[in-house]
Amino acid sequence: MVAPVKRMMHLGAFVHETGQHVAAWRHPDAHYESGTSFADMVEVAQLAERGKFDFLFLADTAAVNLEGSADARGRMGKVVKFEPMTILSALAAVTTRLGFVATSTTTFNEPYTLARQFASLDAISGGRSAWNLVTSNNEQDALNYSRDSHMSHADRYERAIEFAEVVLGLWDSWDEDAFIRDKESGVFYDPSKMHVLNHKGKHFQVRGPLNVAPSPQGRPVLVQAGASGTGRDVAARLAEIVFTAQTVFEQGKEFYSDVMARLPRFGRTPDEVKVMPGFYPVVAPTASEAQEKYDYLQSLIQVPVGLSVLEHTIGVHDLDRLPLDGPVPDMPDTNGPLSRQRLLLEQAKRDKLTLWELCLANAGPRGHVLSIGTPKQVADEMEHWFRDGAADGFNVMPAWLPGSLKDFVETVIPELQHRGLFRKEYEGMTLRENLGLPKPINRHHLERLAGAAQ
Ligand SMILES: Cc1cc2nc3c(=O)[nH]c(=O)nc-3n(C[C@H](O)[C@H](O)[C@H](O)COP(=O)(O)O)c2cc1C
Repeated sequence: MVAPVKRMMHLGAFVHETGQHVAAWRHPDAHYESGTSFADMVEVAQLAERGKFDFLFLADTAAVNLEGSADARGRMGKVVKFEPMTILSALAAVTTRLGFVATSTTTFNEPYTLARQFASLDAISGGRSAWNLVTSNNEQDALNYSRDSHMSHADRYERAIEFAEVVLGLWDSWDEDAFIRDKESGVFYDPSKMHVLNHKGKHFQVRGPLNVAPSPQGRPVLVQAGASGTGRDVAARLAEIVFTAQTVFEQGKEFYSDVMARLPRFGRTPDEVKVMPGFYPVVAPTASEAQEKYDYLQSLIQVPVGLSVLEHTIGVHDLDRLPLDGPVPDMPDTNGPLSRQRLLLEQAKRDKLTLWELCLANAGPRGHVLSIGTPKQVADEMEHWFRDGAADGFNVMPAWLPGSLKDFVETVIPELQHRGLFRKEYEGMTLRENLGLPKPINRHHLERLAGAAQ
């Protein structure tokens, strides 16, 4: 009898330039050349690979924030960044097993371009790429893409679904064995194994096929981040990894079961999907040292920055007109990060936070799980979420780089490995192999098989 495969945790290193915390760049040992130093990025990627992380994950936005006072803006550490596909292609060349998740929006791109870019990153990296499908939470991005205002939440999602259908169709342009490249006979490829998409829909008209060959993992892994009801449906329909923000276990468990319950409607099963919430660890040999580390970074938060980052996280303006020590008022729904706005307003109500206390709570985790403690305590929290139905793994968000990632790699990962919860060695060469996700079968190949069986 074959022994059942033990369920293992999956980990992504979710890295913002200088780190997740808004004051990360002010830490004396932090990378502070935000988004301009390639060497810093190489150090982070190689550290993540040393820790056997499944992947490195880059969020994205395509605008510099021009809201709020010049004084507040001039104090922000997260202003410039590398474009994700470009930097990840370069990092693929200095790593061998680490996967790469790039965030790319369906709101301002064209599906042919995006399908091409990701298929290329997949080929360059030997099958280690993933696309984080987002609909853009930053309303200012619209101003850089020939628009006066952001598309509505509902319209963005409608476009996203058609966009993803086109991308997936393009990634099936070629059968795996389409390329013969026989110098003797002179035949380069078999035209019967090339498939023209001919998509004509409401938003896109794309003939295809894609002019990039399929990769060793079939196609890039599909990640999705968006947590409203519509966002959850998109996750259930398309996502192989769901990236989500939850502040407490009960929310995480509700989200997990809800996404899993939506899968049958889209003909999918739980083994095809991994839910990976964000996780913000602050770890040290003793609990009091961990608390000191946390408090130190919190002490570096400047008031205008704390406020401005909260405005950005929940998609509102003019919070600086309100008293810092007053309650957090009710607000109308944002057309930007709607689910995050609800999450943080709920947190403020639940924990009875003043406006400034909400700024402080948001400054590091930004709506994700906060875990302060020893390696054992942090691993306990992760194990609880993993075993009790709230997560298949985590997107670990180091507070500042490289120090917080180093702490995690050197102390929490060995603890997880010791508990048999995390790999000691990569299982495979491709991201899908390491995630334990099936290699998708090209739809045309499936049709042929079905035809042959009739
Ligand atoms: C965990 C998480 C991460 C996200 N990351 C990004 C991002 O990096 N860039 C971006 O433009 N939008 C990002 N989004 C925004 C979503 O794509 C979406 O536009 C927004 O959350 C509103 O949809 P929702 O209400 O369904 O969550 C993220 C959303 C979530 C929930």
